[in-house]
Amino acid sequence: MTFDNEVAIVTGAGRGLGRCHALELARRGARVVVNDVGSDVDGTGASASAAQAVVDEITAAGGTAVASTDSVATPEGGAAIVKTAMEAFGRVDILVNNAGILRDAAFKNMTPQQVAAVLDVHLAGAFHVTRAVWPIMREANHGRIIQTSSGTGLFGNFGQANYGAAKMGLIGMMHVLAIEGARDNIAVNAIAPIARTRMTEDIMGEAGKAMDPELVTPVVIYLAHRDCDRTAHIYSVGGGKVSRVFIGVSEGIAHPALTPESVAAAIDEIDDPSSFTIRGGPVRVDVSTR
Ligand code: NAI
Repeated sequence: MTFDNEVAIVTGAGRGLGRCHALELARRGARVVVNDVGSDVDGTGASASAAQAVVDEITAAGGTAVASTDSVATPEGGAAIVKTAMEAFGRVDILVNNAGILRDAAFKNMTPQQVAAVLDVHLAGAFHVTRAVWPIMREANHGRIIQTSSGTGLFGNFGQANYGAAKMGLIGMMHVLAIEGARDNIAVNAIAPIARTRMTEDIMGEAGKAMDPELVTPVVIYLAHRDCDRTAHIYSVGGGKVSRVFIGVSEGIAHPALTPESVAAAIDEIDDPSSFTIRGGPVRVDVSTR
């Protein structure tokens, strides 16, 4: 799978998962915008060296990349990241919304500031960059967007109500953009990664040894490719294992005169997941006319 003549933006690509995605996209021929503010895990601080170091790595390996140190967390930052791509390379084919921070706290201690900071980077950040790239992809009748969600959003995790809300928000955004983008061959998918990075190494312990961030990147490369016809899919990926995560609707019951008592009487049948459907919009884009 190669990306000759294509251009990719990877946010938060100065280290961790984003760095791996950027290196591999470049190795396979894409010209890459390496975006990163170079912050600490909690989003404080900034350093231009994180993005530049990855650009230097790509260049040393014979690839093409430019650095962007704008924050995804503001509309101006999102626009500036995409402007960097257009000025350097004149197009954008791929956007990997990956930038992220943590402000963990048990919910009883969580402050509005901790909620706002996390929503701003993960959720609003993805909106800002995607909004800037959307007209370009529509005009080109081609685009591949990958959201970085998380098991915390999909399944829950103690101390991460802010982060879980942001990560599930990215899934809601994905479903709607997949519907709106299908006619223009814009596919929007999500990954829920598991990888040993500075964000997770303290909590992963021994299990982290098998969780190289490089083992997440193959799914991103697959979803970024123009031959990939999947859209609105979510893939859990870590340590070489890949699975689809989906939202299923149980067969449930239908009762013309539903009462609280009939709900209570049938609750096990309503909850029964053994028979379900997956509802929603398109699950494929048409790659035959490209
Ligand atoms: P990381 O901390 O190594 O990388 C995140 C990068 O985002 C950092 O380089 C940081 O400077 C950058 N960043 C932060 N705020 C930014 C902003 N406003 N604008 C631009 N860049 C910004 O962490 P990691 O693990 O590589 O995380 C990448 C993504 O994967 C995040 O969205 C994270 O929530 C998600 N994720 C990671 C998991 C894991 O197991 N490592 C699990 C589930 C999700």
